[in-house]
Amino acid sequence: MTPFAPYPHGRPRRLRRDEFTRNLVREHTLSPHDLIYPVFVLDGEKQRQAVASMPGVERVSLDLLLPVAEQCVKLGIPVMALFPVIDAKLKTPDGREACNAEGLVPRVVRKLKQEFPELGVMTDVALDPFTSHGQDGLLDETGYILNDETVEVLVQQALTQSQAGVDIVAPSDMMDGRIGAIRGALEARGDIHTRIMAYSAKYASAFYGPFRDAVGSASNLGKSNKKVYQMDPGNTDEALREVAMDLAEGADMVMVKPGMPYLDVLRRVKDEFRVPTFAYQVSGEYAMLKAAAQNGWLDHDLVMMESLLAFKRAGADGILTYFALDAARRLRA
Ligand code: PBG
Repeated sequence: MTPFAPYPHGRPRRLRRDEFTRNLVREHTLSPHDLIYPVFVLDGEKQRQAVASMPGVERVSLDLLLPVAEQCVKLGIPVMALFPVIDAKLKTPDGREACNAEGLVPRVVRKLKQEFPELGVMTDVALDPFTSHGQDGLLDETGYILNDETVEVLVQQALTQSQAGVDIVAPSDMMDGRIGAIRGALEARGDIHTRIMAYSAKYASAFYGPFRDAVGSASNLGKSNKKVYQMDPGNTDEALREVAMDLAEGADMVMVKPGMPYLDVLRRVKDEFRVPTFAYQVSGEYAMLKAAAQNGWLDHDLVMMESLLAFKRAGADGILTYFALDAARRLRA
């Protein structure tokens, strides 16, 4: 820029002047196809329970989940992610219910795929909804979470889910080597179409609190945390190493979690690997926005849409969000 250039040197506001120019030059947009809707499913019939720390989110039984699935299809939401609320009586230290072919998750998967074959169904691979201690894996006598022993169970859990017909398995446990072990087992059984979305860069975050209320693992977990397997919030190079390993082991898609506080990680992952990359706007992020909106401090719909667009801008191909239905309805309107 020369010191004598006429003032002003440019007028970027020209392209912001009218709606049509803003629409014309917008770099990133959101579509219902970008959204994955996480849902909490209960056993039984006609069961509906509000989750206090997640206003607007309910745990529902399968019969009441079907109309929700229908909504997803109508709105163009491609995938529903299932999280089971397991009866306390079925929780054990080894979480063996996770591998029960007649358990809640396989039953829900079978019914959903039967009723709505066009809707993608994704299931979490991790033991926390099934363990009496609320950790994602098996413990040794000191309380440390065992890696290889846990991976063996996760493989059985993933096989149980794929046998039930799930489209995407999503290991969220952060054990080492689980993607390779699961991919190998799926291939060995001929389940070549089962997609793996790896929770690759999953941080030991305090933003999961409301989710743990929703699946009922919070009280089991008590004061303990998941820092010996989930990532340290101070790290980003490590996220790239985790993603590289998961891709080498056979992941089709990778994920960064939580979402908004980790957009820098998302951007680095997308730039480095250029693979389908997802972000999870987790329960605590949802709760914050809901609480502020309920107080009248933020405009609900505007912050919802802005927060989701931010993920696209940061490089996400898709977003897991409890706002999926609301956001898709707004996009369709
Ligand atoms: C379980 C799992 C968690 C979430 C998704 N899968 C919780 C955790 O790791 O404790 C969190 C989702 C959310 O907070 O919305 N492994």
